[in-house]
Amino acid sequence: VSIARFHVFSGTGNGRFIAEKIASGLESRGFATEVIEVCASRIEALRLVRGGGHAEGALGDLKVAREPGDLDVFVFPVYAMAVPRLMNRYMRALGKAKGRGSAARPGTAKPRAAILSANGRISDKVRDGHEGQALAQAQRILSRGGWDVEYRETFDYPHNITNAFSAADDGRRDSIVSLMEGRIEKVVADLAEGRRYLRPCRLWAHVVGWPFGWLYRIFGRRCFGMLFAADERCDGCGACAARCPAKAITMRGGRPAWSYACEGCERCINLCHKNSIQTSLLRLAVIVVICSTLDACPLKPLVLTLLAFLPGWASGLVWTVLSIIIGFVLMRLIDIILVELARIGFMRPILGFGWTRWTRRYKAPVSPRR
Ligand SMILES: Cc1cc2nc3c(=O)[nH]c(=O)nc-3n(C[C@H](O)[C@H](O)[C@H](O)COP(=O)(O)O)c2cc1C
Ligand code: SF4
Ligand code: SF4
Repeated sequence: VSIARFHVFSGTGNGRFIAEKIASGLESRGFATEVIEVCASRIEALRLVRGGGHAEGALGDLKVAREPGDLDVFVFPVYAMAVPRLMNRYMRALGKAKGRGSAARPGTAKPRAAILSANGRISDKVRDGHEGQALAQAQRILSRGGWDVEYRETFDYPHNITNAFSAADDGRRDSIVSLMEGRIEKVVADLAEGRRYLRPCRLWAHVVGWPFGWLYRIFGRRCFGMLFAADERCDGCGACAARCPAKAITMRGGRPAWSYACEGCERCINLCHKNSIQTSLLRLAVIVVICSTLDACPLKPLVLTLLAFLPGWASGLVWTVLSIIIGFVLMRLIDIILVELARIGFMRPILGFGWTRWTRRYKAPVSPRR
């Protein structure tokens, strides 16, 4: 029996749903399947094992050499036209892939890999989301790790950017999901029969997606984490902290506090049973004020004088990078104060005030396997 192993990072459940649908399809075609959840703890365990340490149970069957028919399927959502940082780190942490057995298909002994992404769309009429360069980027990472990437495909699912916009209601969600049913069946058949297909990545998607992805990875996701706040309805259940895949939430004084480790996956804001997690307008205002005043920072003339030996563009670049670091440090310091203020009851509605109090959360479709 061939094994299909699904390595799934899914913030809000679309990727998980796709993986489970395809796993069911492959099971009905004789595969055994395994679903491995990608999260920060698993990456730490992989690194520990690769460093010679021991992490019992954390690896599943990952260390077992592949048989000829075996297949590893990497599933993740698209963030800013790129692979999410957590998935990127996971694929690298896997290290060199173990090759297939002696009966490998002619021409290659590399293990087989497929890449599937979930991207987002708002409308069920026009395709308003795009995978950008995510599939090509994942293929580069896996190929360097010794995989033979023989398949890459994307699925348009409902957008989950709930910290900014209202999510689709059940009706629109279902009609977007139903548009992908034929593709799910095709992918099951292709993977089971070993057909190759690499969804093309156009030049524009590389050109736009690469910088967009980097900007999100460095700044965007950190800002998302700093914008979250729990309002007065939070009952301290701790579910958001327990289920954060990046371990970015800690409970302080019975209330959640976010850190720069946030990936912006949107799980916490969508899972809170009190709808208590908001994009805080107060925090947004703090970030805007910090950004707009950095250029007037008294350190700027001093830094530029010290760097006078550099050409103007180089010293300007150094200052830009430095000012961004200063901005992040400042925000972190203010964050400590805001978290402390949230201990005071009457401050909670103020700190957690934002338009997301009135917008809809996202509930992903649930696979019958669960
Ligand atoms: C931070 C962030 C960035 C996103 N960027 C894109 C994008 O560039 N293109 C796109 O089509 N969808 C984008 N999306 C939407 C998600 O990829 C999409 O909703 C996906 O189906 C979510 O999968 P999940 O439920 O498995 O997390 C983004 C979502 C988030 C949270
Ligand atoms: S924010 Fe929501 S999920 Fe997190 S502790 Fe409060 S009630 Fe629980
Ligand atoms: S803090 Fe929330 S959005 Fe950020 S990684 Fe954790 S669950 Fe996802």
